Amino acid sequence: MKLTLTLLSVLLAAPSSILSKPVSSNALIPLAPRTNKYRGHYNPGGPRHHAFPQHHHRREVHLRASRNETDDVADEFLAALSEANCGGTLVLKKGKTYVLGKKLDLTFLDDIVVQLDGQILFTDDIAYWQANNFFHPFQNSITFWQWGGKDIVIKGTGEINGNGQAWYDGFAGREILDPNNVYLRPNLFTAVNATGLLIDGITFRNSPCWTNFLITSKDIFYNNVLIEAQSTNANLPKNTDGWDSYNVDGLTVTNARVNIGDDCFSPKPNTTNIFVQNLWCNGTHGVSMGSIGQYSGVMDIIENVYIENVTMHNSQNGARLKAWAGESTGYGRMNNITYKDFVMDNVDYPLILTQCYFNINSTECAKYPSEVNISNVTFINFTGESSGSRGKLTVEVICSPNAVCEDIYMEDIEMTTPFGDQVFTCDGVTGGIGVDCVASNSTEGLAALATTIPSTNL
Ligand SMILES: *[C@@H]1O[C@H](CO)[C@@H](O)[C@H](O)[C@H]1NC(C)=O
Ligand SMILES: *[C@@H]1O[C@H](CO)[C@@H](O)[C@H](O)[C@H]1NC(C)=O
Ligand SMILES: *[C@@H]1O[C@H](CO)[C@@H](O)[C@H](O)[C@H]1NC(C)=O
Ligand SMILES: *[C@@H]1O[C@H](CO)[C@@H](O)[C@H](O)[C@H]1NC(C)=O
Ligand SMILES: *[C@@H]1O[C@H](CO)[C@@H](O)[C@H](O)[C@H]1NC(C)=O
Ligand SMILES: *[C@@H]1O[C@H](CO)[C@@H](O)[C@H](O)[C@H]1NC(C)=O
Ligand SMILES: *[C@@H]1O[C@H](CO)[C@@H](O)[C@H](O)[C@H]1NC(C)=O
Ligand SMILES: *[C@@H]1O[C@H](CO)[C@@H](O)[C@H](O)[C@H]1NC(C)=O
Ligand SMILES: *[C@@H]1O[C@H](CO)[C@@H](O)[C@H](O)[C@H]1NC(C)=O
Ligand SMILES: *[C@@H]1O[C@H](CO)[C@@H](O)[C@H](O)[C@H]1NC(C)=O
Ligand SMILES: *[C@@H]1O[C@H](CO)[C@@H](O)[C@H](O)[C@H]1NC(C)=O
Repeated sequence: MKLTLTLLSVLLAAPSSILSKPVSSNALIPLAPRTNKYRGHYNPGGPRHHAFPQHHHRREVHLRASRNETDDVADEFLAALSEANCGGTLVLKKGKTYVLGKKLDLTFLDDIVVQLDGQILFTDDIAYWQANNFFHPFQNSITFWQWGGKDIVIKGTGEINGNGQAWYDGFAGREILDPNNVYLRPNLFTAVNATGLLIDGITFRNSPCWTNFLITSKDIFYNNVLIEAQSTNANLPKNTDGWDSYNVDGLTVTNARVNIGDDCFSPKPNTTNIFVQNLWCNGTHGVSMGSIGQYSGVMDIIENVYIENVTMHNSQNGARLKAWAGESTGYGRMNNITYKDFVMDNVDYPLILTQCYFNINSTECAKYPSEVNISNVTFINFTGESSGSRGKLTVEVICSPNAVCEDIYMEDIEMTTPFGDQVFTCDGVTGGIGVDCVASNSTEGLAALATTIPSTNL
């Protein structure tokens, strides 16, 4: 532990000589001590190892700051990043703002450190960005820039700011999953084809849409980051998810605070070997696996996930797994997932596993059930209080009759509700789950919903 903290402070304190000693990514992340009461019931995961290159000296490259909020330095930023590439450090100074108003393809990187102590601010020229961006077909995602290559470190006390207010205002009344939606909004940070990416200490503010989207990448680490999205008016910062991923192997998030308007953390199709520890979420839609199984004929997998020590305030969901059902959806599996040590406060659905996503009623879901298998999912040590929007329900499991849903295991789920004792409902799960769980249409299941409190979570 001492060694870990020492290495972390060296990293944070010495911008130009960082990584001058051989360290792996793991040494940068102070991990909480482990309890072993539950040993035997779950796989305690760990972060992926990745050895970033070491240098005795990294040359520094500086970039002029913007003079005002329209002074676009995107061309200079690209040139400076190219100059710092292959062993150097790009320095963005504290107290300075660097305005980016042009899309940037940064997928050429190889061994670079960005010492970000200042602010990177995107322009809010909606017409420009909707015409100039990088597009990914998964849920019609667009981005201002894309980072890729190998061994990329972005660290410091600085901020990446998406200037989201104009986007929140422009998007008001629309819906991201509406197939007819053409009002696309950029994600704040996108990596594509990256191997070895460490983001340490940075604040991500006011993303127009998802905050981080990681695509076809390996060995991604976030430590000690803050993610915030707040609107100054009634137009919500919608779909500002903390993390989304697609075809990623090795995603580690430690010591993060998230204050946004959608999923706090939500790996999407083909994300494997996930490790999350010490996550604080406020006003979110929870720590969600998926959604997966959205696209007809496409196989999506989420596997080998370990999530530990999560605080969930004012949230629609706590721990959630979501798979699509409906006419012409896809298939896949979620397997080997552990959620441990969750503390809830004002959460509508503290623990929800559903194979009836998205926006589909139970008749329609029964007609076109999900083809996503869900197996080996463990929930341990949940405490705190629900919002009461689901009455006395704290756990809801809705499995598909058309897919595997087995080896779902719960232990020490000890939450309360504003109405007293909690009730769990389970539909369609194969085998026991380790706790008493009634059918949602049983007398107890229906009685649990007799009195509810309207949700205050959006
Ligand atoms: C912003 O700074 C640029 C570059 O110095 C300058 O050309 C422009 O006039 C400034 N705009 C405003 C509104 O001050
Ligand atoms: C990522 O890698 C794939 C496969 O090599 C390539 O086809 C694709 O163009 C790359 N994408 C980007 C944005 O570099
Ligand atoms: C759990 O996470 C919180 C941050 O949300 C942190 O303050 C606390 O120290 C963590 N607990 C342990 C045992 O590390
Ligand atoms: C949590 O989010 C609510 C809005 O959902 C906000 O009013 C409150 O200030 C936030 N709390 C913290 C500690 O950020
Ligand atoms: C996920 O991985 C599987 C097998 O590796 C592949 O068949 C499938 O096309 C991938 N899905 C996506 C969405 O890329
Ligand atoms: C399950 O996932 C954990 C990581 O969370 C991993 O350590 C373990 O080996 C996986 N189990 C199997 C059977 O693959
Ligand atoms: C889902 O389970 C069925 C039955 O065991 C199996 O045949 C199928 O291959 C599984 N699908 C995936 C994507 O693992
Ligand atoms: C259960 O979770 C709480 C809150 O995160 C934690 O303090 C406690 O140590 C956990 N208990 C066990 C046995 O791991
Ligand atoms: C369920 O959804 C289908 C398709 O949108 C609709 O036709 C049907 O009326 C709905 N049923 C109920 C009970 O709401
Ligand atoms: C679930 O875990 C068990 C034990 O590790 C393993 O044998 C089984 O194959 C897993 N299920 C799936 C679908 O991988
Ligand atoms: C409850 O739902 C199950 C199917 O999930 C059905 O077989 C059963 O008849 C229902 N019971 C009542 C009382 O509606």
